[in-house]
Amino acid sequence: MVDTKVTLSGITLDNPVIPASGTFGYGREFAEIYDINILGSISFKGTTKDARLGNPLPRIAECTGGLINSVGLQNPGVEAVCKDELPNLAKIYKKPLIANISGFSIEEYTACARAMDKESQVGILEVNVSCPNVHNGGMAYGVCAESAAEVTRAVKAVTTKPVYIKLSPNVTDIVEIAKACEDAGADGISLINTLLGMRIDIKTRKPVIANKMGGFSGPAIFPVAVRMVYQVANAVKIPVIGMGGVSSARDVIEMMMAGATAVQVGAANLVNPYACKEIIEELPAVCEELGIEKLVDIIGIVK
Ligand code: DOR
Repeated sequence: MVDTKVTLSGITLDNPVIPASGTFGYGREFAEIYDINILGSISFKGTTKDARLGNPLPRIAECTGGLINSVGLQNPGVEAVCKDELPNLAKIYKKPLIANISGFSIEEYTACARAMDKESQVGILEVNVSCPNVHNGGMAYGVCAESAAEVTRAVKAVTTKPVYIKLSPNVTDIVEIAKACEDAGADGISLINTLLGMRIDIKTRKPVIANKMGGFSGPAIFPVAVRMVYQVANAVKIPVIGMGGVSSARDVIEMMMAGATAVQVGAANLVNPYACKEIIEELPAVCEELGIEKLVDIIGIVK
């Protein structure tokens, strides 16, 4: 029997597989096709203080090796999330959740953090400083070490829950930013968010996405994610949640060998709604094949 348990800031997950924020909604559609309680945890759709309709359509473009999205943090706002979405999610999922929060000012981040702090099922706050699709917010805080640290300090001051900062790959020195977040009190780091990209329709000679650019995710970014997880995990002492193009149990193992304690699955859920289920089912056999008895033993094994 392979032991697939991992622990994030004192919270033990049955396995390291977590659907990434924005690719699983609040689990409802997935719960109709399989028992989502097999998941290690769920990072539900990013929450902002106020409701957001998101960016104009079209906002998804398929590409070789993945897709570009410019969703723009569409969500009903923190009040509605806490009042409606989380009670509904609690009916279908019984384990600790990861609350992904975003803001356009420090006050908006702290408003979301305060509200999520009261939610007993939320185990971890994942602070998104890396959304590539919103102006004057999102990535603006994640591209520089000082502002990422400022958000970290502000959120830490208003919550007792572990705070993980979700970082952007669209930066020159992700290690510097991760270390600044650690120094500011972060309990963990999530990485990577999507890679800023663009497609052009060569018939109409216009950008495919209404907002012109968007975040690229999918198998094509997996090597970039492994590289960044490896660099950050070797530079900080806090746990790292790895993500970016993960679509198989072998990818989960590779990400953990690079230094991830847990692994999020994003774009794969959009292509195959059974992706997380298949990965979880596949994991023990792949571990056995590779001589892995306990998944925790391989975390950061590659030096
Ligand atoms: O690619 C992304 N899209 N990353 C985020 O952090 C948010 C999301 C969106 O809503 O645009």
